[in-house]
Amino acid sequence: MAEPVRVCITGAAGQIGYSLVYMVGSGVVFGNDTPVILHLLDIAPMMGVLNGVCMEISDCALPCVRDVIPTDDPAVAFKDIDAAFLVGAMPRKEGMERKDLLAANVKIFKVQGQALDQFAKKSVKVLVVGNPANTNALICAKYAPSIPRENFSAMTRLDQNRAQAQIANRLGIPIADVKNLIIWGNHSSTQFPDARHGTALVNSQPTPIYDAIKDDAWLKGDFITTVQKRGGAVIAARKLSSAMSAAKAACDHMKSIWQGTPEGHFVSMGVFSDGSYNTPEGVMYSFPVVIKDQKWTIVKDLPIDDFAREKMDATAKELCEERDDAVAACQD
Ligand code: NAI
Repeated sequence: MAEPVRVCITGAAGQIGYSLVYMVGSGVVFGNDTPVILHLLDIAPMMGVLNGVCMEISDCALPCVRDVIPTDDPAVAFKDIDAAFLVGAMPRKEGMERKDLLAANVKIFKVQGQALDQFAKKSVKVLVVGNPANTNALICAKYAPSIPRENFSAMTRLDQNRAQAQIANRLGIPIADVKNLIIWGNHSSTQFPDARHGTALVNSQPTPIYDAIKDDAWLKGDFITTVQKRGGAVIAARKLSSAMSAAKAACDHMKSIWQGTPEGHFVSMGVFSDGSYNTPEGVMYSFPVVIKDQKWTIVKDLPIDDFAREKMDATAKELCEERDDAVAACQD
């Protein structure tokens, strides 16, 4: 067996945490032959609930789980970790403005960035799930200057998976036969789910999605809005936000980082913009990336038409505004 991987999950007593701890413990992310030591962080009032989660992990009898460390202390949670799923964040309370929520949450990620800087391995890979995910990741990296900023990423994989499912359902083909859909920009309602560069296997032939579906109005209309509003639709139906699918997407994202992307496939994730595709440098913008040896590279030179340009600029503008609000909130 390989050396154990130390994995921190924050918000481990919450909804996403409940599914995520099981999936990570089952071996799907780091490999069936790799033991994991789970560092589970939540806030002090949730320690009783977290204890129950730990009892269940034990009762799952997962061969990959070497040890479980529940804690409310970031110093313990981040000590020598190799990977972090930063899920824990404050939920929106009644009457709370978006700006107040952003201010409260970026402060959590400032503190966690400082703790990662102090206690985690410098090679740690940090995935931010808690919202606003892109901007939280930006702040977390800013306050962890000793860790390479390429090690931080924000989750838009759930949006990618939602987009892939929409296309597969529309064509009546297996999900695995659809690839290279892109989520550009922010994990918010301004995101741009883009099927232009994707392909689908139709009659065993890789076919551009626009040719396979032959309904530009749907691809530029309902497809995009369905993906953008899917989170709200799940809340309306379930009376709770997406959790199982969010945990699955978080595992997909970390697995891509850990094990790389297959030849010819790209995935979307929020990473520091280097100005590619005329996006504002320095914000955490979701791009198509390929990953090898745990390093991501933005897929370059995809043709961008006027329709895409407008949508990519709108989500970039929102990310710049969020960044400015977040930086100001961290100064308070
Ligand atoms: P939840 O409210 O069920 O759980 C959040 C947990 O985080 C709670 O147990 C809470 O006590 C804990 N927490 C709060 N502050 C913390 C801190 N400072 N340190 C450690 N733990 C802390 O929420 P849920 O449904 O699990 O969602 C978590 C986050 O993920 C939310 O911000 C949600 O908006 C976001 N999300 C992001 C998605 C994405 O695609 N990027 C998709 C779905 C949810």
